[in-house]
Amino acid sequence: MKIKMMFLCALSFNLANAQKVNVKQAFASAAKQTDILIKNVDSARLIKPNLVSPRTVEKGQFKMVVSRDWTSGFFPAELWYFYQYTKDKKWFNLARKYTEDIKKEQYNRGTHDLGFMIYGPFGNGYRLTGDTAYKAVIIQAAKSLSTRFNKTAGVLKSWDHNGDKWKYPVIIDNMMNLELLFEATKMTGDSSFYKIAVSHADHTIKNHFRPDFSSYHVIDYDTLKSGNILQKLTAQGYANESAWARGQAWALYGYTLCFRETKNKAYLAQADGIAGFILNSKVTPADGIPYWDYNDPNIPNVSRDASAAAITASALYELAKYSGNAKKYKAAADKILYSLSTKYTSKIGDNYGFILEHSTGHRPAKSEIDVPINYADYYYLEALLRSK
Ligand code: GLY
Repeated sequence: MKIKMMFLCALSFNLANAQKVNVKQAFASAAKQTDILIKNVDSARLIKPNLVSPRTVEKGQFKMVVSRDWTSGFFPAELWYFYQYTKDKKWFNLARKYTEDIKKEQYNRGTHDLGFMIYGPFGNGYRLTGDTAYKAVIIQAAKSLSTRFNKTAGVLKSWDHNGDKWKYPVIIDNMMNLELLFEATKMTGDSSFYKIAVSHADHTIKNHFRPDFSSYHVIDYDTLKSGNILQKLTAQGYANESAWARGQAWALYGYTLCFRETKNKAYLAQADGIAGFILNSKVTPADGIPYWDYNDPNIPNVSRDASAAAITASALYELAKYSGNAKKYKAAADKILYSLSTKYTSKIGDNYGFILEHSTGHRPAKSEIDVPINYADYYYLEALLRSK
């Protein structure tokens, strides 16, 4: 899985020459791969029915996950995007079928990842069908997520695991779950979800970022007395003081959606600042696909993260609608998407049907390094849709 071309230069990469992706062709190839993926999913489920969604390929093995895995929603959510693009009943039926498998997670209070798990499939499903059963699932999931809010700290708790390492860990990824809360307020008229989302976003601006707009991965809060910060850490990045690539992408996407939902200019300024950090990087290669961590001293001999690139491209297309830097963001998103669609896609039939290659899941844990991953595929499809 070698990347064909690697030039080192600032991602102030030549935007003037950004080539436009062929969306029709990219969707057609992605659909062919996804047909293969579905066959593999169905075969795997005959043996282990509790494994509901395809996550990755590791050591050549196809890996499926249970519905409580944080990535379980991306697969059915992708199927909704195929339906959105094609309007083909085939994708509608498939999306409905696999969305059902994640439904029970609406009651899961043990994770902050309900935005990914529930809002991906059910949010897209509701948007595209208006099915009130989906709406009920979204509202229940928002209630479950809200139980993880602590008033003293003003934020939602991310993880319940590894209590020996931290007390009240909040990861930058958590910004992605706020969309579920904003939506639940729109659906119910109950502003408590909105208020939690705004509190979380405000505290995260204050505590999670460095002066250059790069983000820490994990902030550990004291919820017993003060809400003060106990520690600033990483779990999935190179070092506590480094900028883990996917974390920067989650931050960009998160503040972009917060601006969309609130029109608070502070969120727009934050998103612009984060975009500046990502796009002015001196280490990202000319094709715009970042290394897994901006500060890994072994760059360029380390893996890329196509998932971070896909999330970034999708976020930049939306941010371009709100920001004074619209032209620059659109050109950068086009460039990234062109690279992904021409150099980072699996050959038809390869990788069990996953669409993109070259993502990095959890390098410090030596897990999912330079592999296909479902969330890379999901945000790639979203970026393709948004590019139109
Ligand atoms: N939210 C976990 C990750 O981005 O890997």
